[in-house]
Amino acid sequence: MTTVERPRIVGAGTDRVDGPLKVTGAAPYSNDVSLPGMAHAAVARATIASGRITRLDTGPAESAPGVLAVLTHLNAPRLGSGPESLLRTPPPPLQDDRILYYGQYVAVVVADTPEQARAAARRVEVGYERAEPLLDLDDPRAERVADPWGSDASWGDVAAGLARADAVVDASYTTAENTNNPLGLFTTLAAWDGDALTVHDSTQWPVLVRATLARMFGVPEAGVRVLAPYVGGGFGAGLRVWPHVVLAAMAARRTRRPVRLELARPEMFTGIGHRPATAQRVRLGATRDGRLTAIEHESVSTLSIEGDNIEPCASVSTTAYACPNVSTRDQQVRLNIPWTNSMRAPGEAQGNFALESAMDELAYMLGLDPLELRLRNYAEVHPRSGLPWSSKALRECYEVGADRFGWARRGAEPSSMREGDWLVGYGLAGVSYFWYQAPCRARVTVRGDGTAYVRSAVTDIGTGTYTVMTQLSAELLGLEPGRVTFGLGDTGMPPGPQAGGSGLTAALGNAVHAACRALLRAFLDLAGADPASPLAGCGADDVTVTDGRIHRVGEPGRGESYTGILAAHGLEELSADGDSEPRRAEEAGMAPAGPFGARFVEVRVDPELGRLRVARVVSVIDGGLILNEKLARSQIIGGTVGGIGMAMFEETVTDRGTGRIANATLGDYLVPVNADVPDLDVTFVGVPDAYNPVGVKGVGEIGLVGMAAAIANAVFHATGRRIRSVPITIDDLL
Ligand code: MOS
Repeated sequence: MTTVERPRIVGAGTDRVDGPLKVTGAAPYSNDVSLPGMAHAAVARATIASGRITRLDTGPAESAPGVLAVLTHLNAPRLGSGPESLLRTPPPPLQDDRILYYGQYVAVVVADTPEQARAAARRVEVGYERAEPLLDLDDPRAERVADPWGSDASWGDVAAGLARADAVVDASYTTAENTNNPLGLFTTLAAWDGDALTVHDSTQWPVLVRATLARMFGVPEAGVRVLAPYVGGGFGAGLRVWPHVVLAAMAARRTRRPVRLELARPEMFTGIGHRPATAQRVRLGATRDGRLTAIEHESVSTLSIEGDNIEPCASVSTTAYACPNVSTRDQQVRLNIPWTNSMRAPGEAQGNFALESAMDELAYMLGLDPLELRLRNYAEVHPRSGLPWSSKALRECYEVGADRFGWARRGAEPSSMREGDWLVGYGLAGVSYFWYQAPCRARVTVRGDGTAYVRSAVTDIGTGTYTVMTQLSAELLGLEPGRVTFGLGDTGMPPGPQAGGSGLTAALGNAVHAACRALLRAFLDLAGADPASPLAGCGADDVTVTDGRIHRVGEPGRGESYTGILAAHGLEELSADGDSEPRRAEEAGMAPAGPFGARFVEVRVDPELGRLRVARVVSVIDGGLILNEKLARSQIIGGTVGGIGMAMFEETVTDRGTGRIANATLGDYLVPVNADVPDLDVTFVGVPDAYNPVGVKGVGEIGLVGMAAAIANAVFHATGRRIRSVPITIDDLL
């Protein structure tokens, strides 16, 4: 039953089980679902960033063709607040006349067709009393939130560590705001039946959507069903219950019709969160031979006026290196901007850029190979607690990566490598990603026909959850994968956590593991009731399952099949639930390790034109047990492209006069295209992690992390120019 030790099905690069449905268009994303009598909603958004609504004229919109209702703060129902949650739900929309950011919803229009709704929404007339918006991270009027997550840390004596250092780096870094931009336009379809509500939604967290809508509308949670079997990407954008979700439910209740609200691309830029900008300062002290004596890391990041956001940037410096004196501080500044929110590797993406750039600066200052500097400060144990890691193969990441990349060919001096007119640069970054796991429940059923159905109310945001959980379930149940169906994306299933924080595969995998164990015990209880059964007296550890037959370990002949046991007891099926709950580090006697990684990058810079190209990327990742190497590789590749975007292209530009996002289209917001991305070399190393029975660590976000620093470090090696701000643009290199 603990077959993950000798996996047969997991690890294999199985194709996506949902692939055919997706490529044939048969997978029902929330914008594909239609209901009889369905109406359509469109939003009207504020055109100031701060102030009040003083005048509203909805007459022209109400009299437009096909319009069923226009809701504003003057006639919208008063709603309750959402539940306490790891990621707070924005307050319900249309509750008062205050405007806190440009793009905030001021009205929702419901009409027979989407075109009618959009046309009418443009006819909602709004007058404002403007206030001076807070838009700048340095604005002295803005509220600052210190230590927002209680994660600030300090040990040793940083001042003393810096004083006794032979070399000190003291540098400031900035990262731009980025926007998640999942391809699927976020869509909510809401339908009421009395106090019962069914919602099809683009979400990473169906259970939170259910709890939030129940509380806001004051209806029983048991009557709210949220469906999200397919989600067209999220990158963190689907981790909150955004105001448009509430508007769809509000509009459906008012018009007594099912209502679909699909955001347009520009509305995605203001309505579903974005990565905050950061300004960071890192001070590193080291001895002449490259031993760190002090790390100080401070970060300030942007936050919306009413928002919260978990974005621990400086915290990366508490886990990355062995150092006797460490201090990290995070701060947020409240501005009149749309909600900042998780965007793939929140905090880590920006914090790693600052720390790994500073490490590179230190290496050049000391005349040390940047790789050697990292190895000299390798954290053999968890730096803060001193506990052993549950697993850590970062050294192997560096070694394998250096070998595959050919790091030894690197010229020691900046601007020492050329190819034709191009300057060539090598850069690297190390990544020690955080660990996160939430509680999860799964249910498994084996049926009389020898098939199994496993499910949990989680989502697959394109990462491969359906596939890897089908593999894992088949492995644990001793069935062929073709006999196993995995279900998700329905709050009628046992509750599961968000697809986020790179924690779902571990949380869900362990719940599936527990459910399969429980089901095996249930089968043994049934079989064992008959003293003549070859399984009589067997416990779960005495047996294994092969091709649907439970048999004594090492004795394939002594057993009974699932179907035989069910038939003998007149049962059609047998089910069991399983829960996973993260252990506490102190009890486990080890520090839970997230994934680790090493990123090696070669860039080419054209010094005449300031052009920067990424020529090669080698990534080596310790993700614990890899359930499906093909899909895990896809995660790293996708993350790497996101990292190239963060390093060279992506920047959400806010107009400093008005607070309007100036590039809120996919034409204006730059992302890497195929020509910007070379072949990406990805290798996995490491062993199954010891912290949980299945042994997986999440690889959903680490692929992005380290790319910004590795590229900036390679740019320095190519040109001798240290760029401390991303995205790196042509003007930085001229
Ligand atoms: Mo991820 S930003 O936790 O979806």
